[in-house]
Amino acid sequence: MDSTQELERSYHFDLYRRLPVTLVKGKGIYVWDSNGDKYLDFLSGIAVNALGHSHPAIVKAIRIQSQRLIHTSNIYYTIPQARLAKLLCGLSGYERVFFCNSGLEANEAAIKLARKTGNQKGKMGPIVSFTGAFHGRSVASISMGSEKLQKGFAPLPAGFLKLPFNDLKAAKENINKDTIAVFVEAVQGEGGVIPAQKDFITALHQHCRENDVLLIFDEIQTGFGRTGNLFGHMHFGIKPDIITVAKALGGGFPIGAVLTTDEISRGFTYGDHGTTFGGNPLACSVAEAVVTTIINKELIENAQKQGIYLLSRLEKMTRKLSVVNEVRGIGLMVGVELKVPCRPIMIKMLERGFLVNCTSEKTIRLLPPLIVRKREIDSLVKNLYRVLSREKI
Ligand SMILES: Cc1ncc(COP(=O)(O)O)c(C=O)c1O
Repeated sequence: MDSTQELERSYHFDLYRRLPVTLVKGKGIYVWDSNGDKYLDFLSGIAVNALGHSHPAIVKAIRIQSQRLIHTSNIYYTIPQARLAKLLCGLSGYERVFFCNSGLEANEAAIKLARKTGNQKGKMGPIVSFTGAFHGRSVASISMGSEKLQKGFAPLPAGFLKLPFNDLKAAKENINKDTIAVFVEAVQGEGGVIPAQKDFITALHQHCRENDVLLIFDEIQTGFGRTGNLFGHMHFGIKPDIITVAKALGGGFPIGAVLTTDEISRGFTYGDHGTTFGGNPLACSVAEAVVTTIINKELIENAQKQGIYLLSRLEKMTRKLSVVNEVRGIGLMVGVELKVPCRPIMIKMLERGFLVNCTSEKTIRLLPPLIVRKREIDSLVKNLYRVLSREKI
């Protein structure tokens, strides 16, 4: 254990099962630890560093804006916030945006907005989410998440209902005119990289329409090119009423947002919601730089192309490995489900110089930056194969 790890262990809340490395710098798809060892980053700070590390566009935006104006509060207008609002509405096809600082804050705002609009229509029913979902760690967000997250935090707030994922029958039986909203992910990331089925989403969308229920897509992990489309919902040919975004939007700088129609946004009136830091000029300048770089450098197309390549390489590899249960995913959001716990595999990959993630106990999750190239994928697959081929079941 190095001195940083000792300090951290002594003073920080004991909340994270951290891996035994202290990362000190990053460039592109690589990061380095305090011993000078180099790692190929196939996690991107959990789908955040879409442009990789220290991308010049981000560095430049931070440099220029931090010398100009960092924070003002939302009592005043600022140029970067107005510019980012226009950019995101133009790209997404929504008409209004609310800025905050993180994923869970975006979901919290969406929950409040949904309840406010629902209450105005006389609805007092639940907000529906699905098994395997992850929407953050606030008290409201864990109420929509797995039992594991909820344990020990009773009493949880009322007004949330969990239904089985990809189960249309259960959705139709339980979602009705009193339901306020439905929260869904295009691909459940924390839940083990489980894609929503197209038939399920299109029928759910239709059912929500017929019952005047808001359909909210949590695009916090899937947004901004991760799945090979600007947003995950675009794979289903539907448009949700509300989407929540964060993670890749800031490329590493904290920012979140809620996007919706003009009409739905009017559910909130002056004083209903707000934030001190959300949408500050520095975060918005960085986000504008990130989003324009993703679009201009055709990184969504790259995510789609490299995602297909990564999946095909993994599928080919796993045909020879009995330890693998399934390979699945879309774009650069890929899971390798094992028959054994994945944490030891994650540690062995770290020792070989690769950052990968282990989610829902048995699924290796791969979330490389959108700038990833074929040769880096080849290197990852070769090393993962070597590690997995030594595993016994
Ligand atoms: C789908 C989804 N929603 C919400 C969140 C919560 O975001 P944050 O950690 O920024 O609060 C996450 C984080 O992993 C997520 O993947």
